[in-house]
Amino acid sequence: MGNIFHWSLVFAALAHCGLGLQPPQRRATVCNGHAELCDRAYSNVTTIGSHDSFAFSSNPLILARDQQVDIPTQLNLGVRLLQAQSHMNDGVIHFCHTSCILFDGGTVVDYLKLVKTFLDNNPNEVLTFIFTNPENLSLTDVWKPAFDEAGITPLAYVPPHVPMKNSEWPTLGEMIDSGKRVVVFLDAGADTSQVDFLLPEFEMIWETPFGVTDPSFPCSVDRIDGPLSTPDHSYMINHSLNKNILPIGDGVLVSDPLDAPTTNSVNSIIANVEGCVPLSGANRKPQFVLLDYVDIGNAFQAANQLNGLA
Ligand SMILES: *[C@@H]1O[C@H](CO)[C@@H](O)[C@H](O)[C@H]1NC(C)=O
Ligand SMILES: *[C@@H]1O[C@H](CO)[C@@H](O)[C@H](O)[C@H]1NC(C)=O
Ligand SMILES: *[C@@H]1O[C@H](CO)[C@@H](O)[C@H](O)[C@H]1NC(C)=O
Repeated sequence: MGNIFHWSLVFAALAHCGLGLQPPQRRATVCNGHAELCDRAYSNVTTIGSHDSFAFSSNPLILARDQQVDIPTQLNLGVRLLQAQSHMNDGVIHFCHTSCILFDGGTVVDYLKLVKTFLDNNPNEVLTFIFTNPENLSLTDVWKPAFDEAGITPLAYVPPHVPMKNSEWPTLGEMIDSGKRVVVFLDAGADTSQVDFLLPEFEMIWETPFGVTDPSFPCSVDRIDGPLSTPDHSYMINHSLNKNILPIGDGVLVSDPLDAPTTNSVNSIIANVEGCVPLSGANRKPQFVLLDYVDIGNAFQAANQLNGLA
């Protein structure tokens, strides 16, 4: 007992005199909820994502919804990938589903401010955005100002080069320690020479097909861009089931919360993953599992299992 007291005094005295015996630099010991994940590469952790995260409503009559709980609730459940679709509405960038008449999720700035509050309250969390940019909105005049205004730009991860191979990403712990713990992908129109943190999604992440109506979720590499090979990409499985409610012509696909307990079950997610792993070219699990109705089912249990935590 006396010894411990003695040595701690010496340590404190030396540190005080600036003799180089500084206490170790603060390091994250829990990352995205688990100590085991701190030393894992960002690209080597399976994360649950919310498809059309902004398109939430508790009203089942709103057919254009894909979620029923709001953004803070999704994040508190454990969602660490937020996906959303952008559209201009009266000169302001909004998140809307297909069109802002069908479903207007409000401004991107308001959405990002909500997420910023979560990030401030949860400093050991790494978060990814995948935003679609169907109107090819200006990176410098529209997208970046939204991130600036919400205060997220200083947290945005800027990779040393683009594209990053799957094997080149830092660990979650490194990202948290550096404070650069938000990764932002755009599906189209990204140009890192204009805005360095808005990253071209398909150069680094491939996706399975969307608009799936087959509950067995057959896997295929649907959307991908070069120059990197498929094994050097991470991938996202689009594990949401659609119902065709107008079986003529191209039909009308809507999400169906009644399927969600099955679709978002451990079995269904793991089966989808097993179908995709051989296509990764590297025996790799998906980095992202994108879901409708994230609050229904057992997706987070599936992710823990895929991450070897359960
Ligand atoms: C990914 O993480 C798992 C579990 O820790 C580890 O066994 C595997 O080697 C990692 N893969 C890569 C490519 O780092
Ligand atoms: C998107 O806009 C940029 C200019 O901001 C332009 O260079 C590019 O060609 C556009 N892409 C498409 C697909 O229209
Ligand atoms: C995933 O599937 C949904 C629903 O079919 C589709 O709307 C979406 O564009 C797909 N891809 C992404 C990146 O969300």
